[in-house]
Amino acid sequence: MADYKITLLKGDGIGPEIVDQAVKVLDKAADKFGFTVEYDEALLGGCAIDATGVPLPDETVAKCKASDSVILGAVGGPKWDDQPGNNRPEAGLLGIRGALGLFANLRPSVIFGPLKSASPIKDEIIGDNMDIMIVRELTGGIYFGERGKSDDAAWDTEKYSVAEIERIARVAFDMAMKRNKKLTSVDKANVLESSRLWRKTVIEVSKDYPEVELNHMYVDNCAMQLVRNPKQFDVIVTSNIFGDILSDEASMIAGSIGMLASASLSGGKLGLYEPIHGSAPDIAGLGIANPLATILSVAMMLRYSLNQPEAAVAIENAVAKVLVENRTPDIFEEGLNKVTCSEMGDLVCQAL
Ligand SMILES: NC(=O)c1ccc[n+]([C@@H]2O[C@H](COP(=O)([O-])OP(=O)(O)OC[C@H]3O[C@@H](n4cnc5c(N)ncnc54)[C@H](O)[C@@H]3O)[C@@H](O)[C@H]2O)c1
Repeated sequence: MADYKITLLKGDGIGPEIVDQAVKVLDKAADKFGFTVEYDEALLGGCAIDATGVPLPDETVAKCKASDSVILGAVGGPKWDDQPGNNRPEAGLLGIRGALGLFANLRPSVIFGPLKSASPIKDEIIGDNMDIMIVRELTGGIYFGERGKSDDAAWDTEKYSVAEIERIARVAFDMAMKRNKKLTSVDKANVLESSRLWRKTVIEVSKDYPEVELNHMYVDNCAMQLVRNPKQFDVIVTSNIFGDILSDEASMIAGSIGMLASASLSGGKLGLYEPIHGSAPDIAGLGIANPLATILSVAMMLRYSLNQPEAAVAIENAVAKVLVENRTPDIFEEGLNKVTCSEMGDLVCQAL
C-alpha cells in the first residue's frame, strides 16, 4: 500500500493539463524523498455535469473523504454558463469545501525573485522578500448566511458564531507561530456587529499565543495598505468575503495569477490544494497554461497535510531555479526560453 492516497479532481478547461504536471512533480519528489503516492481520479464541475448531471457527484465526496489529500485543477467554462445557480460547476466547488469541512483557506502571496518585474507595484515598495499568508474563513459568513429576495429587494446575511471565529483564529495564530509571529486580523468592527464579535473573539484567542504580535485593521484600510506597504504584513486572518477580495488583491501584487497556490484545510490532515486561478477556457487545450500554481499547491500539500516539509522546500526551490531562464507565455520576458505547460513540468522535475 502506498504511503499516501491522493484524489485528483482535474476539472475543466486547463485543469487536466496543469494537474498532470503537478502529478509529474509529486512523483519525482516521492522518488527523491523516499515515499510512495497512489492516485484516484474523480469528477467535479462541468465534466461532472456532463457525465452525471450534477457538479458534485456523491462518489466524488466519498473518494475525497477516503484520501489523505485532494489536488484540484479548476472548474467552469462558458459551456455551463446557462446552468441554474445551484447546478453550476462553481456550486460543486462550494459543495466539496462544505462536505470536507474545509473551513480554513490559506493563500500565500509570494514573489519569486526572478518574477519581481511582473508585479505592478514598484520595486522599492515590494522589497526583496514579500511573503504574505492570508488565512480566510471559508465555510461561514455572508456566502452561507440566510438569503432572500422579494419583488424589489434582495438580502444576504453575514453571521459568525464564536466557535467559527475561534477555530479560524487558531489556524492563523498557529501559522503566525511558524512564521514571523505577527498577525493582522481584518474586520469592519466600526460598522458591523459580526465584525465586533470577530475582533472580541480573536483577542480572546490571542491570550493563548502571547508570543504573537496581534494588530487589527479595518478592511478598507487593509485594501489600501496592501498596495501602499505590503511588507508590513506577515499573516492576515479575515472572514470569507473580506478574504475573497483581499487575497485576489494580494495575488496581483505577486505578479501572475498562474503562480499562486492555495490550501483549504479542515481540522484534521485532509486538505484540498488548488491554484487560485480558474479554468482559463481561452487557453484550454493549447498546452500553454502555466502549471506552477498547481505545482506550488503540491508543495503546500506536502507541508500541511503529508508532513514532508523537505520535499515542499525542494519543490519551491526547483520552481525558483527554473524561472530564472524559463517561462510560460503568461510570464514570458524577452531573452528567456518560452516553454509549454508540459515542458515547464519537466523542467521542475529536472531541477528537483
Ligand atoms: N477555483 C476555480 O475552479 C475557479 C476560480 C475562478 C474562476 N473559475 C471559473 O473559471 C472560468 C474562467 O474564469 P475567469 O476567466 O474569470 O478566470 P481565470 O482565472 O480562468 O482566467 C483569467 C485570465 O487568466 C489567465 N490564466 C488563468 N490561469 C492561467 C494559467 N495557469 N496560465 C496562464 N494563464 C492563466 C486566463 O487565460 C485568463 O486570461 C469561469 O467559468 C469561472 O467561474 C474557477
